[in-house]
Amino acid sequence: MAKKDVILELINVNKKYEDSYAVENFNLYVNKGEFITFLGPSGCGKTTTLRMIAGFEKPTSGQILLNGKDIGSLPPYKRPLNTVFQRYALFPHLDVYDNIAFGLKFKKVAYEVTKKDGTKVTKYRKFTREEVDAKVTKALKIVDLEAFESRDVSTLSGGQQQRVAIARAIVNEPEILLLDEPLGALDLKMRKEMQLELKEMHRKLGITFIYVTHDQEEALTMSDMIVVMEDGQIQQIGTPLDIYNEPKNAFVADFIGESNIYVGTMIGNKKVRFLGTTWECIDDFPVNQKVDVVVRPEDVIIKPLGEGAVKAKIVNKIFKGIHYQFTAMVGNNEVLIQTTADHEVNTEVSLSIEPDLIQIMNRAYDANIYQDAYINKNNKVVFAGATWDCDITQLVNGSSVDEKGYFSTPDGKKYDLTDLDVIATIDMKDIEISDDLEDGNITGQIIQMVWKGDHYQVIVRTEEEEDFVVDTEWTWNELDTVSVKIPESKIKLTLKEDISKYEI
Ligand SMILES: Nc1ncnc2c1ncn2[C@@H]1O[C@H](COP(=O)(O)OP(=O)(O)OP(=O)(O)O)[C@@H](O)[C@H]1O
Ligand SMILES: [Mg+2]
Repeated sequence: MAKKDVILELINVNKKYEDSYAVENFNLYVNKGEFITFLGPSGCGKTTTLRMIAGFEKPTSGQILLNGKDIGSLPPYKRPLNTVFQRYALFPHLDVYDNIAFGLKFKKVAYEVTKKDGTKVTKYRKFTREEVDAKVTKALKIVDLEAFESRDVSTLSGGQQQRVAIARAIVNEPEILLLDEPLGALDLKMRKEMQLELKEMHRKLGITFIYVTHDQEEALTMSDMIVVMEDGQIQQIGTPLDIYNEPKNAFVADFIGESNIYVGTMIGNKKVRFLGTTWECIDDFPVNQKVDVVVRPEDVIIKPLGEGAVKAKIVNKIFKGIHYQFTAMVGNNEVLIQTTADHEVNTEVSLSIEPDLIQIMNRAYDANIYQDAYINKNNKVVFAGATWDCDITQLVNGSSVDEKGYFSTPDGKKYDLTDLDVIATIDMKDIEISDDLEDGNITGQIIQMVWKGDHYQVIVRTEEEEDFVVDTEWTWNELDTVSVKIPESKIKLTLKEDISKYEI
């Protein structure tokens, strides 16, 4: 985003609680008048960031600048900001008017007096009744509650109460309004209405809004700019359109809207292989690089058999009001498709995707990662269409396997891990390939080979279209059939689900 008229700037802001970071290396600037949204899953640090801006919390390190000045040492009430919280605390014994006017009664306004000798001094006074009245009336008008000023707040609906809370914040004429999930307590219909109203208030007030939500749709509809957060870190900053159309990584893509995400391999200039076929794309990545490929469900086109790029079978159909959502299988891969055209379940079709609608992004890890691995009844791990010896005690610190094969943890609990979902990760250098086909657990064909300066990197693809990316010092030929072997100690396992339900 372009730096225009910056009102707020966060520079290398960190917040550490005990030994973990709630917010890490946060760098952001906010332009005056913008509607900016912090979006991310629960616990990602949204509220913490907002509280640091508001002054309720001090950063462990880093700076917060308001209009270019460090506000680190300013207490909350001296910052020209107001916060609207999810649980808006209204005073139940006061009516709407008095709830809104409450803060103004304690506010002091500065005014200048010229003394006889001509020197000027600053004095402070309270707002007059007329001034309070004018401000409250204006705030009531903005939140559309003019007729409600003498209503008891306890008789208001949730949406109306939230409007009072907003009026109470804007009556102070803050430069920035901070809103922490302000619509979280409302039902869906009310929330949608209030979203539009908040947008309208933002337009009327012309001030900067910093909004917090974990609802991606809300962020997309309301914001000028979205900051996607995960684990205390910024994943991407961009306009709703940028974030939706050009997600920076698989996390953002997955979090924003529905997506198909595949592991692909670049196999040529602007050519990527996924779903068992080669696609033209518009992103240029180095040949042989493993990439994440993201395709939005509305960008997959269903064509008659033979007319698209890849054969698929429709296995599921849901009517979603305006469009249908289909699940189609391409080999073992699911493809989510949204379209207004109807198709029958069980028909064989062909799928196509326009090159510019195939988003290619760097993979987060450069290893072989099998997200769909699971433990079988013999405490072995199953992934990539084969069964592998592994050390399951790495799943929980201090655990062991007893004579009967039950997994036990240091707290004395026992588990039967059959069917437990895990993620198996294997470094590319730890996979061994051999031309003795009896030697490994599964066989595959070398579909690609690149010289990497001091070794070859080959991709072995199994019949079921599972890939192993292998670093090897031996020379192979493309289309060689090889067997794949992985030493037990080199298969790194991590839990993908809570093991408590496997307790016996
Ligand atoms: N006072 C505190 N002491 C210790 N840890 C804290 C404290 N406040 C927040 N945290 C931790 O910091 C992390 C970020 O919390 P935060 O409340 O900012 O998340 P959030 O994104 O607002 O989540 P939610 O959507 O659930 O409101 C969490 O792991 C939380 O447990
Ligand atoms: Mg929060």
